[in-house]
Amino acid sequence: MKIQALAVFSALACSAQASHVQLEKDIDMFYSPNWKASERATVNDEINVHVVLKHTPERVSLLEEKLMDVSDPRSPDYGKHLSIQEVKDVLSLSPHVSYEVEQEISKYNVTDIKMNKYGDILSLQMNAKEAEKLFHTELYHHVHKNAPANIDSGVIRAIKPYHVPSTIADHVAIVEGLVRFPKREFVPTTIGENYRPKAFEGLGADDEFSSCGSSCTGYTTPAVLQKRYGYPTIGESDVADGNRMAVAEFQFQYYDDADMGAFSDACGLESPVEVASTVGGNKPSFCGVGVQACIESLLDIEYIKAVAGAIPLEVYYSGTFSLYDWAVQVNDDDSPAQVQSVSYGNDEIQQTSDDYMFTTNTEFMKAGARGVSIFFASGDQGVWGRSGSSTGKFNPDFPGGSPYVTAVGGTDFEVKSTIGDETTWADSGGGFSNTFDIPDYQADAVATYKSTATLPDASYFNNTGRGYPDISALGGQVNPYCIAYGGSGKKFTGVAGTSASSPVAAGIFAVLNNVRLSSGGAALGFLNPFLYQNADAFNDVTTGTNDAGNRKGGFDAAEGWDPATGLGTPDYTKLAQAL
Ligand SMILES: *[C@@H]1O[C@H](CO)[C@@H](O)[C@H](O)[C@H]1NC(C)=O
Ligand SMILES: *[C@@H]1O[C@H](CO)[C@@H](O)[C@H](O)[C@H]1NC(C)=O
Repeated sequence: MKIQALAVFSALACSAQASHVQLEKDIDMFYSPNWKASERATVNDEINVHVVLKHTPERVSLLEEKLMDVSDPRSPDYGKHLSIQEVKDVLSLSPHVSYEVEQEISKYNVTDIKMNKYGDILSLQMNAKEAEKLFHTELYHHVHKNAPANIDSGVIRAIKPYHVPSTIADHVAIVEGLVRFPKREFVPTTIGENYRPKAFEGLGADDEFSSCGSSCTGYTTPAVLQKRYGYPTIGESDVADGNRMAVAEFQFQYYDDADMGAFSDACGLESPVEVASTVGGNKPSFCGVGVQACIESLLDIEYIKAVAGAIPLEVYYSGTFSLYDWAVQVNDDDSPAQVQSVSYGNDEIQQTSDDYMFTTNTEFMKAGARGVSIFFASGDQGVWGRSGSSTGKFNPDFPGGSPYVTAVGGTDFEVKSTIGDETTWADSGGGFSNTFDIPDYQADAVATYKSTATLPDASYFNNTGRGYPDISALGGQVNPYCIAYGGSGKKFTGVAGTSASSPVAAGIFAVLNNVRLSSGGAALGFLNPFLYQNADAFNDVTTGTNDAGNRKGGFDAAEGWDPATGLGTPDYTKLAQAL
């Protein structure tokens, strides 16, 4: 009897296996050190997921070709960005594919099912128990270990692999919303309210370092940035019709008027820092809660606005955290802001399957083809990434290492409190991807670097991978950025990180877009081909190493492009001439 029972059991197991196919097979970690699993999800829980349909490799290559064509200043099609319909036509997914997937999914109890405008992503809202059946997995509530009290910061995630019914397995690339945990990896380094750069007083430091009031003496301020990078002040009447920019925020990184106002007043900004619109809501009361309350978002918002003046700013907020969801949201917008800055990311090897990265890249390509410039912070752990040096290899970042975004690294002034040449911030993320090949636009720059620089041991990095960052901007700890934070409009602090570099670079390119849009031109769109063709429009950074203080290795900055500071920091005047 026992044997019989066993036989029945294994037959069942077999048939269950045959009817479902595992996706993202290379993910081997179904937990996060920062997230604690609590109860199993129940019939009373709902989840939202994206079922991402699979494009043929030929069609994705065609989209990449179109992207490079409209983004290359040497192409006759430069600036001829695509509409949503045109992108959809390029990808031309067969309607049978979405029909079959929808039919299969509708056999389950789905509360809501929506197709995106490109016809390639089905967004589902469904009962968690039903989702366990559809995706053949187990879903649990998870709570962040540092979750502030009284804040419902939980997420529902799978604790084991997920699957889709075999009838549609060939049509689905990934399901997003089941396995990746929210991350706030690049929360900038807080220097502390009482910190004063030691060498500041009495050493003839430049006045700009004391331009945000006595609480921020010695810090990097809007005036420091403007003097170094040379961009003009954009007033209300200077804003070109339709010019906009955006930052993306996740996981309780909201913003509040009191802090933005205090920052504008203290730094004497002509156009006060304000948010023109928000996708995903705002809860300013959160900015008074917890140690890291709104520091990341206020840094992004205060500095992109400090640089770009009156150019309207949008904030995309997502409580669930998914860079993929964010990209989908941007692409779903009929006219997305032309410049987008994101200070979040993690290592390629952390919870990130190749299918996830390739699928997310397709979204980046769509955005670029439509004329959107995407900036990502390159990371704050040098070449080692979040995973650290124990892996025995450098750990490249995603999306920093994606060929379809502009990755921004961090620098310090060579001489503290003195506006002049910059040097590599040792913790600035950079290196070579282990997933993506060297794109054409940087092939010469990468080859030149490899043939002239003293390289770390070849076992540390991938010789065929895409090099990053592309550019950089101030971000290091020598003169941290002054920000107002804390929800009250009374607290100031110094913060450092590529989280600061990304919004600053994005703001400068929003000002450059303003020049183009004012004269009837198109937005700059995907920037990298333009950047590498205009290497001399950057302040070349040629000193320092991004080894994060670990003498086992890092990449040296060098003349021209390097995987420490990219092409260097923006010289606005030269960039404006290159437009
Ligand atoms: C279907 O899902 C909804 C929403 O989660 C739930 O209220 C309902 O009871 C479910 N119906 C069945 C038949 O399971
Ligand atoms: C090196 O990078 C390439 C992409 O250029 C990738 O296909 C390959 O798997 C990587 N090798 C290793 C050992 O990670």
